[in-house]
Amino acid sequence: MTVVVNIPLLHRLRDAQGAFVSIAELGDGEAFDSVQTDLDELERFGFVLESHPYRGVAYRGPAARLCPDQIEHELGTRRVGRRIAVWNRVISTNDLAANAAASKANEGLVILAEEQTAGRGRRGRQWVAPTGSSLLMSVLLFPSESLAEAGWLTALGAVAVAEVVAAWTGLDARIKWPNDVRIAGRKIAGILVERGEGAVIGIGLNANLSQADFPTELHETATSLRILMGETVDRSELVRALIRRLDAWYDRGWSLGPDALNPAWRDRSEHLGQMVEVATPSGSHVGRLVDLDLRRGLTLAESDQDGRARQFSIRDVLTLTPCNDGAGPGPNAPIVAP
Ligand code: BTN
Repeated sequence: MTVVVNIPLLHRLRDAQGAFVSIAELGDGEAFDSVQTDLDELERFGFVLESHPYRGVAYRGPAARLCPDQIEHELGTRRVGRRIAVWNRVISTNDLAANAAASKANEGLVILAEEQTAGRGRRGRQWVAPTGSSLLMSVLLFPSESLAEAGWLTALGAVAVAEVVAAWTGLDARIKWPNDVRIAGRKIAGILVERGEGAVIGIGLNANLSQADFPTELHETATSLRILMGETVDRSELVRALIRRLDAWYDRGWSLGPDALNPAWRDRSEHLGQMVEVATPSGSHVGRLVDLDLRRGLTLAESDQDGRARQFSIRDVLTLTPCNDGAGPGPNAPIVAP
């Protein structure tokens, strides 16, 4: 059954920040019955409202499921989110986005799902999340040649996610090479870029998982917005924020070129200035990471070369592992997606 969600009405309720609003005020000239019908529909969709016989209605919380109307309403983006599809259960949102790549008219298509039956992470790992707990999202793009260069789309996804996570939590969200977003060393999101006819940026962001939702072995290394903020978050608003950041950076990339993303990517890096071990096809190198640049690559002041700087192109970097500073190389604990 389709539920029609009256978004301006929802906004009026939310803007009251928990206070009761009378039906007359909510209706703005509309007949009482029609306002009441719209309120019923909001509740039927899952928004949590409290009604009082004299005082009116108060907003008490978001719907547990993603609300397409709420996501799309006055989104105002140029490319990302021009079309949005929300699914209950899919194999992988990346697959659905890739299936739409036959037509360039689908540039910016966003696929969201409440559940994935075979979500993918990097390096052949699985990406598992309890139904309705996360953002499972894929964006189909047709980037220019320079924006399709190695690493740019992953950096785009990581920067956008890190910015949204930082804005929502007030905490310092950092990018762990190449595709993890972490808060104080705990993974909150991962990015998986896959290429075919177009390019798909897949994003898994731990939104409303509780500590108990993570397998025990991830308790020390993973986190979620709910854990950090101490409350359930409105995932539809979270999607809106993320689509807007993705669109803003993608648009800057088109108009200013790939370098436009460099400062934000560099600033959010967990590793800049640290001792790291970089594995390349020609061997491993240890040194201080003195620069990161999406075009020039990584600049390492190599320990066994008296600190002389050496550059590695992004596509040559197989792994980048932080060392225990001063104590030589030491592998970082592997982070497995929840
Ligand atoms: C990683 O950290 O290994 C990347 C995880 C990416 C997971 C997301 S969830 C939405 C999209 N669909 C998938 O199958 N994978 C990505």
